[in-house]
Amino acid sequence: MAPADPIDPEGLVARLRAAGCVYAEEEAALLSDAATGEDLESLVVRRVAGEPLEVLLGWVGFEGVRVRTAPGVFVPRARSGLLVRLALAALQSRCDPVVVDLGCGTGALGAVVAHRRPDAEVHAADLDPAAVDCARRNLPADRVHRGDLYDALPAGLRGRVDVLLANAPYVPTDHVALMPAEARLHEPRAALDGGPDGLAVQRRVAAGAAQWLAPTGVLLLETGRAQSPSTLALLRDAGLDAALHTDDALDATAAVGRRPRGVDAGY
Ligand SMILES: C[S@@+](CC[C@H](N)C(=O)[O-])C[C@H]1O[C@@H](n2cnc3c(N)ncnc32)[C@H](O)[C@@H]1O
Repeated sequence: MAPADPIDPEGLVARLRAAGCVYAEEEAALLSDAATGEDLESLVVRRVAGEPLEVLLGWVGFEGVRVRTAPGVFVPRARSGLLVRLALAALQSRCDPVVVDLGCGTGALGAVVAHRRPDAEVHAADLDPAAVDCARRNLPADRVHRGDLYDALPAGLRGRVDVLLANAPYVPTDHVALMPAEARLHEPRAALDGGPDGLAVQRRVAAGAAQWLAPTGVLLLETGRAQSPSTLALLRDAGLDAALHTDDALDATAAVGRRPRGVDAGY
Protein backbone atom coordinates (compact mmCIF):
# COMPACT_ATOMS: atom_id res chain seq x y z
CA MET A 1 0.00 0.00 0.00
CA ALA A 2 1.36 3.45 -0.91
CA PRO A 3 2.10 5.64 2.10
CA ALA A 4 -0.52 8.24 2.92
CA ASP A 5 0.26 11.79 1.81
CA PRO A 6 2.36 13.08 4.74
CA ILE A 7 0.99 16.58 4.24
CA ASP A 8 -2.50 15.23 4.90
CA PRO A 9 -2.73 15.71 8.68
CA GLU A 10 -5.05 12.76 9.21
CA GLY A 11 -2.85 10.44 7.16
CA LEU A 12 0.17 11.60 9.11
CA VAL A 13 -1.49 10.92 12.46
CA ALA A 14 -2.63 7.49 11.24
CA ARG A 15 0.90 6.53 10.17
CA LEU A 16 2.37 7.61 13.49
CA ARG A 17 -0.35 5.82 15.45
CA ALA A 18 0.16 2.63 13.44
CA ALA A 19 3.87 2.84 14.29
CA GLY A 20 3.01 2.86 18.00
CA CYS A 21 3.33 6.58 18.77
CA VAL A 22 1.00 7.09 21.73
CA TYR A 23 0.73 10.87 21.30
CA ALA A 24 0.33 10.69 17.51
CA GLU A 25 -1.60 13.98 17.13
CA GLU A 26 0.94 15.91 19.18
CA GLU A 27 3.87 14.33 17.36
CA ALA A 28 2.29 15.06 13.97
CA ALA A 29 1.94 18.72 14.90
CA LEU A 30 5.52 18.96 16.18
CA LEU A 31 6.98 17.24 13.11
CA SER A 32 4.86 19.40 10.80
CA ASP A 33 6.15 22.52 12.56
CA ALA A 34 9.72 21.26 12.27
CA ALA A 35 9.65 20.65 8.51
CA THR A 36 7.57 20.82 5.36
CA GLY A 37 7.25 18.88 2.10
CA GLU A 38 9.96 16.27 1.44
CA ASP A 39 11.73 17.07 4.70
CA LEU A 40 8.56 16.23 6.57
CA GLU A 41 8.24 12.91 4.72
CA SER A 42 11.79 11.92 5.62
CA LEU A 43 11.21 12.87 9.29
CA VAL A 44 8.05 10.77 9.36
CA VAL A 45 9.83 7.80 7.80
CA ARG A 46 12.55 8.05 10.45
CA ARG A 47 10.01 8.40 13.26
CA VAL A 48 8.02 5.41 12.02
CA ALA A 49 11.32 3.47 11.98
CA GLY A 50 11.72 4.28 15.68
CA GLU A 51 14.07 7.26 15.96
CA PRO A 52 13.34 9.36 19.06
CA LEU A 53 11.03 12.30 18.35
CA GLU A 54 13.34 14.66 20.22
CA VAL A 55 16.26 13.78 17.95
CA LEU A 56 14.18 14.45 14.84
CA LEU A 57 13.00 17.79 16.20
CA GLY A 58 16.52 18.70 17.31
CA TRP A 59 15.35 19.80 20.75
CA VAL A 60 13.58 18.67 23.90
CA GLY A 61 11.75 20.73 26.49
CA PHE A 62 13.41 19.95 29.83
CA GLU A 63 12.42 21.68 33.06
CA GLY A 64 11.06 24.60 31.03
CA VAL A 65 14.19 25.06 28.92
CA ARG A 66 14.59 24.09 25.25
CA VAL A 67 17.69 21.88 25.08
CA ARG A 68 19.32 20.92 21.78
CA THR A 69 19.55 17.20 21.02
CA ALA A 70 21.65 15.26 18.51
CA PRO A 71 21.60 11.81 16.90
CA GLY A 72 23.41 9.24 19.03
CA VAL A 73 23.19 11.33 22.20
CA PHE A 74 21.02 10.29 25.18
CA VAL A 75 17.71 12.17 25.20
CA PRO A 76 17.15 13.84 28.60
CA ARG A 77 14.30 12.22 30.53
CA ALA A 78 11.71 14.16 32.49
CA ARG A 79 12.63 12.23 35.65
CA SER A 80 16.08 13.84 35.66
CA GLY A 81 14.30 17.08 36.54
CA LEU A 82 14.55 15.89 40.15
CA LEU A 83 18.35 16.33 40.06
CA VAL A 84 17.94 19.86 38.69
CA ARG A 85 15.36 20.81 41.32
CA LEU A 86 17.56 19.46 44.12
CA ALA A 87 20.53 21.32 42.64
CA LEU A 88 18.65 24.62 42.52
CA ALA A 89 17.47 24.13 46.11
CA ALA A 90 21.04 23.40 47.25
CA LEU A 91 22.29 26.52 45.45
CA GLN A 92 19.73 28.86 47.01
CA SER A 93 22.03 30.04 49.76
CA ARG A 94 25.19 30.24 47.61
CA CYS A 95 26.49 33.08 45.44
CA ASP A 96 28.55 32.48 42.28
CA PRO A 97 28.44 28.71 42.80
CA VAL A 98 30.44 26.13 40.88
CA VAL A 99 28.38 23.33 39.33
CA VAL A 100 29.54 20.25 37.43
CA ASP A 101 27.33 18.06 35.22
CA LEU A 102 29.29 14.79 34.94
CA GLY A 103 28.28 12.40 32.13
CA CYS A 104 26.42 15.35 30.67
CA GLY A 105 25.04 13.93 27.40
CA THR A 106 23.31 16.93 25.81
CA GLY A 107 24.28 19.00 28.86
CA ALA A 108 20.62 19.35 29.78
CA LEU A 109 21.09 19.29 33.56
CA GLY A 110 23.83 21.89 33.50
CA ALA A 111 22.00 23.99 30.91
CA VAL A 112 18.89 24.32 33.09
CA VAL A 113 20.98 25.24 36.13
CA ALA A 114 22.87 27.83 34.05
CA HIS A 115 19.56 29.21 32.79
CA ARG A 116 18.08 29.56 36.28
CA ARG A 117 21.30 30.66 37.94
CA PRO A 118 23.22 32.92 35.56
CA ASP A 119 25.75 33.60 38.33
CA ALA A 120 26.77 29.92 38.40
CA GLU A 121 29.99 28.66 36.81
CA VAL A 122 28.64 25.52 35.17
CA HIS A 123 31.01 22.89 33.77
CA ALA A 124 29.98 19.71 31.96
CA ALA A 125 31.90 16.65 30.84
CA ASP A 126 31.36 13.45 28.90
CA LEU A 127 33.44 10.66 27.43
CA ASP A 128 31.50 10.57 24.16
CA PRO A 129 32.58 13.10 21.49
CA ALA A 130 29.01 13.32 20.09
CA ALA A 131 27.71 14.25 23.53
CA VAL A 132 30.47 16.83 24.02
CA ASP A 133 29.66 18.44 20.64
CA CYS A 134 25.97 18.58 21.53
CA ALA A 135 26.58 19.93 25.04
CA ARG A 136 28.77 22.68 23.52
CA ARG A 137 25.62 23.92 21.77
CA ASN A 138 23.75 24.09 25.08
CA LEU A 139 26.48 25.53 27.31
CA PRO A 140 29.52 27.76 26.79
CA ALA A 141 31.85 25.57 24.69
CA ASP A 142 34.92 26.21 26.83
CA ARG A 143 33.13 24.82 29.87
CA VAL A 144 32.31 21.46 28.24
CA HIS A 145 35.15 18.98 28.64
CA ARG A 146 35.81 15.58 27.15
CA GLY A 147 37.19 12.61 29.08
CA ASP A 148 36.61 9.78 31.52
CA LEU A 149 34.61 11.15 34.49
CA TYR A 150 36.80 13.44 36.65
CA ASP A 151 39.82 13.15 34.30
CA ALA A 152 37.96 15.57 32.00
CA LEU A 153 37.69 18.37 34.57
CA PRO A 154 40.07 21.32 34.93
CA ALA A 155 42.29 20.69 37.97
CA GLY A 156 41.32 24.10 39.34
CA LEU A 157 37.85 22.80 40.19
CA ARG A 158 39.21 20.36 42.77
CA GLY A 159 37.63 21.02 46.16
CA ARG A 160 35.49 23.87 44.75
CA VAL A 161 32.36 22.18 43.39
CA ASP A 162 29.18 23.26 45.16
CA VAL A 163 26.90 20.87 43.26
CA LEU A 164 28.06 17.80 41.39
CA LEU A 165 25.27 16.41 39.21
CA ALA A 166 25.57 12.96 37.71
CA ASN A 167 23.03 11.00 35.77
CA ALA A 168 25.50 8.23 35.01
CA PRO A 169 24.35 5.05 33.25
CA TYR A 170 22.69 2.77 35.82
CA VAL A 171 20.91 0.02 33.89
CA PRO A 172 22.36 -3.43 34.69
CA THR A 173 23.93 -4.97 31.58
CA ASP A 174 21.38 -7.82 31.44
CA HIS A 175 18.49 -5.33 31.49
CA VAL A 176 19.63 -3.23 28.53
CA ALA A 177 18.07 -5.75 26.12
CA LEU A 178 14.71 -5.17 27.86
CA MET A 179 14.74 -1.42 27.32
CA PRO A 180 12.41 0.21 24.76
CA ALA A 181 13.75 0.03 21.20
CA GLU A 182 14.03 3.84 21.05
CA ALA A 183 16.69 3.72 23.73
CA ARG A 184 18.28 0.39 22.84
CA LEU A 185 18.70 1.10 19.16
CA HIS A 186 19.19 4.87 19.06
CA GLU A 187 21.11 5.74 22.21
CA PRO A 188 24.72 4.75 22.80
CA ARG A 189 25.31 1.67 24.92
CA ALA A 190 27.71 3.66 27.13
CA ALA A 191 24.86 6.01 28.05
CA LEU A 192 22.72 3.14 29.35
CA ASP A 193 24.85 0.23 30.52
CA GLY A 194 25.92 0.51 34.14
CA GLY A 195 27.78 -2.81 34.21
CA PRO A 196 26.73 -6.14 35.76
CA ASP A 197 25.00 -4.60 38.80
CA GLY A 198 24.20 -1.26 37.14
CA LEU A 199 26.43 0.53 39.64
CA ALA A 200 29.85 0.46 37.99
CA VAL A 201 29.90 4.12 36.90
CA GLN A 202 28.01 5.36 39.98
CA ARG A 203 30.64 3.65 42.15
CA ARG A 204 33.44 5.56 40.38
CA VAL A 205 31.52 8.85 40.59
CA ALA A 206 31.01 8.33 44.32
CA ALA A 207 34.62 7.30 44.92
CA GLY A 208 35.98 10.49 43.35
CA ALA A 209 33.43 12.99 44.63
CA ALA A 210 35.05 14.00 47.92
CA GLN A 211 38.13 15.31 46.11
CA TRP A 212 36.09 17.64 43.91
CA LEU A 213 33.33 18.81 46.26
CA ALA A 214 33.70 22.01 48.23
CA PRO A 215 33.54 21.37 51.99
CA THR A 216 29.78 21.98 51.95
CA GLY A 217 29.29 20.65 48.41
CA VAL A 218 26.63 18.17 47.40
CA LEU A 219 26.72 15.18 45.05
CA LEU A 220 23.38 14.47 43.33
CA LEU A 221 23.23 11.08 41.68
CA GLU A 222 20.21 9.80 39.75
CA THR A 223 19.39 6.17 40.41
CA GLY A 224 16.64 3.59 39.97
CA ARG A 225 14.16 2.96 42.73
CA ALA A 226 15.06 -0.72 43.05
CA GLN A 227 18.79 -0.10 43.20
CA SER A 228 18.62 2.98 45.42
CA PRO A 229 19.66 1.11 48.61
CA SER A 230 22.81 -0.04 46.76
CA THR A 231 23.50 3.50 45.54
CA LEU A 232 23.19 4.78 49.12
CA ALA A 233 25.59 2.08 50.29
CA LEU A 234 28.21 2.95 47.71
CA LEU A 235 28.04 6.64 48.65
CA ARG A 236 28.64 5.64 52.28
CA ASP A 237 31.44 3.29 51.21
CA ALA A 238 33.00 6.34 49.54
CA GLY A 239 32.96 8.10 52.92
CA LEU A 240 30.03 10.42 52.19
CA ASP A 241 26.98 11.16 54.29
CA ALA A 242 24.09 9.95 52.14
CA ALA A 243 20.32 10.26 51.84
CA LEU A 244 17.63 9.50 49.28
CA HIS A 245 15.06 11.81 47.66
CA THR A 246 12.14 10.60 45.58
CA ASP A 247 9.53 12.30 43.44
CA ASP A 248 6.55 10.09 42.62
CA ALA A 249 5.17 12.46 39.98
CA LEU A 250 8.46 12.28 38.07
CA ASP A 251 9.01 8.61 39.00
CA ALA A 252 12.46 9.74 40.04
CA THR A 253 14.97 8.78 42.71
CA ALA A 254 18.13 10.67 43.60
CA ALA A 255 20.88 9.86 46.04
CA VAL A 256 22.45 12.85 47.77
CA GLY A 257 26.00 12.67 49.11
CA ARG A 258 27.88 15.20 51.23
CA ARG A 259 31.37 15.31 52.64
CA PRO A 260 31.11 14.60 56.37
CA ARG A 261 31.74 17.71 58.45
CA GLY A 262 35.29 18.15 59.65
CA VAL A 263 36.78 15.45 57.44
CA ASP A 264 39.69 16.42 55.17
CA ALA A 265 39.14 15.37 51.55
CA GLY A 266 42.82 14.55 51.18
CA TYR A 267 43.58 16.41 47.96
C1 LIG B 1 22.24 8.28 31.15
S1 LIG B 1 23.19 9.34 30.12
C2 LIG B 1 22.78 10.90 30.88
C3 LIG B 1 23.09 12.11 30.07
C4 LIG B 1 22.64 13.42 30.73
N1 LIG B 1 23.29 13.63 31.99
C5 LIG B 1 21.15 13.45 30.90
O1 LIG B 1 20.66 13.27 32.03
O2 LIG B 1 20.45 13.64 29.91
C6 LIG B 1 24.84 9.01 30.73
C7 LIG B 1 25.95 9.81 30.07
O3 LIG B 1 27.17 9.45 30.73
C8 LIG B 1 28.20 9.36 29.78
N2 LIG B 1 29.25 8.48 30.31
C9 LIG B 1 29.21 7.15 30.49
N3 LIG B 1 30.37 6.71 31.01
C10 LIG B 1 31.16 7.81 31.16
C11 LIG B 1 32.48 8.03 31.65
N4 LIG B 1 33.23 7.01 32.09
N5 LIG B 1 32.98 9.27 31.65
C12 LIG B 1 32.22 10.32 31.20
N6 LIG B 1 30.97 10.17 30.73
C13 LIG B 1 30.44 8.94 30.71
C14 LIG B 1 27.52 8.81 28.53
O4 LIG B 1 28.29 9.10 27.37
C15 LIG B 1 26.17 9.52 28.59
O5 LIG B 1 26.20 10.73 27.86
